[in-house]
Amino acid sequence: MIKILVTGARGQLGSVLTKTLQEKYGVHNIIASDLLDNPNFIGHFEKLDATDYSSIEEIVINNEITEIYHLAAILSAKGEENPLRTWNINMKSFFNVLEISRLHGIIKVFYPSSIAVFGNEIEHINTPQNPNLTPATVYGISKSTGEIWGNYYYEKYGLDVRSLRYPGVIGYQSLPGGGTTDYAVNIYHSAVKKKVFNCFLEASTTLPMIFMDDAIRATLELMDAPKENISVRTSYNLAGMSFNPREIFEAIKKIYPNFEISYNPDFRQEIASSWPQSINDIDARKDWGWKPVFNLDTMSKIMIQKLEEQYKLATI
Ligand code: SER
Repeated sequence: MIKILVTGARGQLGSVLTKTLQEKYGVHNIIASDLLDNPNFIGHFEKLDATDYSSIEEIVINNEITEIYHLAAILSAKGEENPLRTWNINMKSFFNVLEISRLHGIIKVFYPSSIAVFGNEIEHINTPQNPNLTPATVYGISKSTGEIWGNYYYEKYGLDVRSLRYPGVIGYQSLPGGGTTDYAVNIYHSAVKKKVFNCFLEASTTLPMIFMDDAIRATLELMDAPKENISVRTSYNLAGMSFNPREIFEAIKKIYPNFEISYNPDFRQEIASSWPQSINDIDARKDWGWKPVFNLDTMSKIMIQKLEEQYKLATI
């Protein structure tokens, strides 16, 4: 019997992943949790501060949890507002998950990492799996450190921790919060609302991105892969597509010819410039057959169609 605890279940990725896991394993086998309550949630929801060891432990014991997807974290841009707090929250919550998993026989742990682990010393194009990591944000430092701790728990205790370095995730189902790649979701909302989009990155800032459906599928495929296939125990590079603000703007203009954009780069520009432009994910492809499906145009069509439906429903 699989019983899954998801932390950060109200987040951009967590909310969609939770629904997908409910569909896959049955609503009653998923315990969703988040720092904030979720009164409209359908299923089992627990208000949980993941930095509190005993609260997680209680949920794990009471619900006979067998797997944990630990999505709670503070992201790259938001994290810079208070670096030490970000470090404490991101690391403490993950240490709690690792220790509780080890002590209570959790079978698998999923830990999301990020392109934020890379810093200025990498090759920015086709960034390989194992370059020298010098992350430029406290979020990136916490994620790269977390990767190494996941590997340590695997090597030392045999805990089956699996991880992906997500590119910027783009979906219509949820809004991102506090990341450097958020612009690529927000731009679709502006387009559908017929507003001029004010972009906080320069037009030419190419970053790795992935459509939500691909990001979710990658997560499930990694978690379903036979244990012996997992050769990367830090975190897998994962690629979807790469584009810059000008290119996404042009893709949207094919659908909304009157769409307009202005560029006002802020502190997030420097973060974005330290990240890869494209990712080499050969290990994910070899080990568990990863292959993305969506490109900028196919994603843009779906984003706009779905957001139009959502906004129409909201005005009825
Ligand atoms: N999308 C995230 C961010 O921008 C990267 O992991 O912080």
